[in-house]
Amino acid sequence: MNSFIPVCEPYLAGKEKEYVMDCLETGWISSAGKYVTAFEKEFAAYCGASYAVGVCNGTVALHLALVAMGIGKGDEVIIPNFTMIATAFAVCQTGAMPVFIDADPDTWNIDVSLIEAKITPRTKAILPVSIFGQPCDMDAIQRIASKYKLLILEDAAESHGAVYKGRKTGNLADVTTFSFFANKNLTTGEGGMVLTNDESIYKKLLYYKNLCFPLEGPRNYLHEDIGFNYRMTNIQAAIGLAQVERADYYKSLRIQNAQRYQSFLQDIPGIQFQQTLPDVENVFWMNAILVDESAFGKSRDELMQHLKQKGIDTRLLFVGMNHQPSLRKYGCDTEGYYPVTEQLTKTGLYLPSASNLSEATIRFICDEIIAFSKTAVHV
Ligand SMILES: Cc1ncc(COP(=O)(O)O)c(C=O)c1O
Repeated sequence: MNSFIPVCEPYLAGKEKEYVMDCLETGWISSAGKYVTAFEKEFAAYCGASYAVGVCNGTVALHLALVAMGIGKGDEVIIPNFTMIATAFAVCQTGAMPVFIDADPDTWNIDVSLIEAKITPRTKAILPVSIFGQPCDMDAIQRIASKYKLLILEDAAESHGAVYKGRKTGNLADVTTFSFFANKNLTTGEGGMVLTNDESIYKKLLYYKNLCFPLEGPRNYLHEDIGFNYRMTNIQAAIGLAQVERADYYKSLRIQNAQRYQSFLQDIPGIQFQQTLPDVENVFWMNAILVDESAFGKSRDELMQHLKQKGIDTRLLFVGMNHQPSLRKYGCDTEGYYPVTEQLTKTGLYLPSASNLSEATIRFICDEIIAFSKTAVHV
């Protein structure tokens, strides 16, 4: 068995090296170069979206998307309380205010039944996050968005290739963003992408991404608006193209990991997995479990410590947005109580989830969990 099993690592098993070497040998290492457009085209086609814009990471993808959607100061954006901090920060970076909604106790995604109560005349958009690889209940979110004339931006940083009622993330919202960080199901090291079917939003994405250089006409170095340099490099895109060429294979490996964990641990009391909605294909970016100490016999922290001693890396889950000092200072309403987020944060952990985990490695991890549970004194 490996001496150390990391919680995640990239899997670069296709033409990544060949394409990167092509960039180096030809000198095309900036954002100019054929791989950026090729990657955008292939990823858009994979997701079933009309337009894709590559950017340097998933955080700026969110910021760029919000700017292109016209979100700014005075606006409110509904986000899940249980998410990675980038979701909230991107909203703050536009000058708008993130408004938090607790997670659903089974899917851990935004609890759609709580959204309407937080809509005000200032609400402009709903920003659902497909947590750990599972799309949200997008039909329900769409019904609310239509009723209140809101835009939907899906943060699909964790859910490349996930499917909701026959459609992939990237084609479920007005705009969708992805991250290609090294631990993601598809990676470019650092990287991101914004997808949309709306041509006018697409043009704004291109415009703001590149310092508001005019999209047409001569380069006279006059800039009408304040923009950003969020460009993806050709080297990032070279890796991305090789990844997307094998996207379904990489996805199948993550799903297989989840099936193995769930089957090996199914009879262990006190272990809860994320529940997947019917009609949804979860791509299991991460395999997270909640540990109920009274049933499992040991606490989450004791389990993490035990696994660490056995060379098995784990991680804590996100801390709720309502607990973030940065967001409190920014002026967000952090007063509410979010019981599901509390439970996820206090009892959850990520198990190793890399695409290239073998069945024997997952068996070893599960055997350690089971053996540790058996050392507990159950009363
Ligand atoms: C839900 C979510 N949103 C946004 C991001 C930000 O992506 P990046 O790290 O590429 O900036 C992440 C990254 O892990 C994420 O999990």
